[in-house]
Amino acid sequence: MVSTRILGKTGFQVSEIGLGCWQLGGDFGPIDDARCQLILSEADTQGINFWDTADVYGAGKSEERIAQFTTSHSSKPIVATKVGRAAELYPSGYTKTSVRTNLENSLTRLQGEVLDLVQLHCIPSEVLKAGDILNWMDDFEQQGLIRYTGVSVETLDEALFAVEHPKIATIQTIFNLFRQDHIEQLFPKALGNNVGIIVRLPLASGVLAGTMRPDKVFDPSDHRNYNQNGAAFSVGETFSGLPFSKALEFVDTLKSHKPANMSMAQMAMRWILDQKAVSTVITGVSRPEQVRENASTSSLSSLPPSLHQTFKDFYFSSVKPHVRGVM
Ligand SMILES: NC(=O)c1ccc[n+]([C@@H]2O[C@H](COP(=O)([O-])OP(=O)(O)OC[C@H]3O[C@@H](n4cnc5c(N)ncnc54)[C@H](OP(=O)(O)O)[C@@H]3O)[C@@H](O)[C@H]2O)c1
Repeated sequence: MVSTRILGKTGFQVSEIGLGCWQLGGDFGPIDDARCQLILSEADTQGINFWDTADVYGAGKSEERIAQFTTSHSSKPIVATKVGRAAELYPSGYTKTSVRTNLENSLTRLQGEVLDLVQLHCIPSEVLKAGDILNWMDDFEQQGLIRYTGVSVETLDEALFAVEHPKIATIQTIFNLFRQDHIEQLFPKALGNNVGIIVRLPLASGVLAGTMRPDKVFDPSDHRNYNQNGAAFSVGETFSGLPFSKALEFVDTLKSHKPANMSMAQMAMRWILDQKAVSTVITGVSRPEQVRENASTSSLSSLPPSLHQTFKDFYFSSVKPHVRGVM
């Protein structure tokens, strides 16, 4: 079973390996109901009790597929959804009524009584910092529509704003072997202010698992096809902002440091779990076997300090200059 950690101000005991459910909406290529249910069932079996989704993943399909599982099983995972990227809201349609309507629609799709954790979904920095939307979320908490408010951010600047805000319980951010700045800039503050860190893109969209070849063809419906250069949304969300060919080159270097007792995917996730400030790593999956492999990372030993130093040096000297998108 996967070990648990406390998720910041929510106090939730969450599995340190969580489940990213963007894939259940079809943005990593087509996926049918049956495979989604197998993935959710495997996550449940492995003790993965923290599932991340959003209203816009598959236009609500990801949330519906989660409800299909939770309404037919006794175990109740903590489901974190998001609001803020639906066409009627993003980038300038935020009103208290429109946000509330979107939250109510998520609750209907998830078939729950309350939303456990709602993350503002990469909303424009100026909207986040203006503060009105956070006051509305506070009201929604008081009214019993949601339990806690978090943010999912694109930039470290937004994370540094959020970590000081008393109402924000969690921060979801891109953090992986190709994005390491958080260690010094964000994590000490998150620990000090009891803000839960939810890590997305732990495998940089899968490339850090070390099994992709340069001639890999991604389905046209897969963002790793259509968003390689940021045509649809922030380039940082696809391969962590690295050009695919560059990411493969860096993965080859990392492979030479892989401990014998773990896979590349496990090494990448273990490196993240070695950070005390991290509450959960929401790795996305397209197959149940990946759930099993990812869950087993929780019982592996920490990487040695010397390897952490090697990866830090490699990031700052070689990788960071090639990362696109605002950090
Ligand atoms: N703005 C936001 O708030 C935002 C943005 C992005 C993601 N997210 C959330 O974060 C979650 C994680 O991010 P992500 O899915 O984009 O990136 P990720 O977790 O780094 O990569 C996911 C991909 O890695 C591959 N993979 C997973 N486990 C593997 C294993 N054991 N061996 C080999 N390959 C493996 C799969 O690729 P294949 O599909 O090729 O099998 C999977 O689709 C998402 O599901 C979503 O919930 C949030």
